[in-house]
Amino acid sequence: MTVRHFLNLSDAGGDALAAMLNDAMARKDARRGLPKGQPDADAPLAGRVLAMVFEKNSTRTRVSFDMAMRQLGGSAVILDAGTTQLGRGETIADTARVLSRMADAIMIRTSDHAKIEELAAYASVPVINGLTDLSHPCQIMADLETVLEHGKALPGLEVAWLGDGNNVLNSIIEAAGLLKFNVRVAVPEGYDSDPHFISAARSAGASISVHRDPRTAVQGADVIVTDTWVSMGQTGADARIAAMAPYQVNEALMAHAASGALFLHCLPAHRGEEVTDGVIDGPQSVVWDEAENRIHAQKAVLRWVFGQL
Ligand code: CP
Ligand code: NVA
Repeated sequence: MTVRHFLNLSDAGGDALAAMLNDAMARKDARRGLPKGQPDADAPLAGRVLAMVFEKNSTRTRVSFDMAMRQLGGSAVILDAGTTQLGRGETIADTARVLSRMADAIMIRTSDHAKIEELAAYASVPVINGLTDLSHPCQIMADLETVLEHGKALPGLEVAWLGDGNNVLNSIIEAAGLLKFNVRVAVPEGYDSDPHFISAARSAGASISVHRDPRTAVQGADVIVTDTWVSMGQTGADARIAAMAPYQVNEALMAHAASGALFLHCLPAHRGEEVTDGVIDGPQSVVWDEAENRIHAQKAVLRWVFGQL
């Protein structure tokens, strides 16, 4: 069997993503009330080890993959690039060869997306994208699970994105094409997202509209999403913050969304910049469910790369 990598959502395709989301929700329901580290009754990844490589900071991705492996009956080894030989110049290819002999799958958080593609090319075990400068597919699996759990159907859903055209937005747009929802993108000129994701989603039938006026993007939308204005590794913070200030998600902007609209943020949040306390702590915010769902959604991603879904 060919090795299944999860570098972008399109590696799985719409049908598999839908199956993963169903599995994530079913497993979450089935283990309600158990201590967080107790394995699921069937422990489907018993004996499997995930090696996690972090070339950038992380709280959620790190803990949620570790917990996901524990709940599936397996375990994880965490490598911080600064304390590995990768950080001293050992090649990605050699790292891929070695980790493939020692672990059953590799998750990596890195900068240049070309690095994860190279890792996957030389690995003989599955490679999972834990965020690159280009995309963050695991985050979007948790986001979609959260939207579904809160009673919204994906086909025809109107999602509005505010702020920066970044990695998280690229994966939302990719998901829109695969799962048939629509995205209204409100970002300042000069901070647009990757055009390839937009054209692929449009070709698949999703409506992806680009707005400079945040209010037109939010008008009647079912889900409002934002993220930091300065992603890890980005420079020019002052200019970015000035350009994106009109795109802040605040109570006045949320008032233009559909009644019952949800607010999502992958976190970490910069309160007072891209979102106000009133919105992130308000009744429409589902960000803590979204954070928890990183565990449940990634359990399904792990089962998929191991051929169980
Ligand atoms: N949302 C997310 O990926 O969080 P971390 O950077 O804490 O992993
Ligand atoms: N866009 C952010 C997401 C962090 C989870 C970043 O890349 O820093």
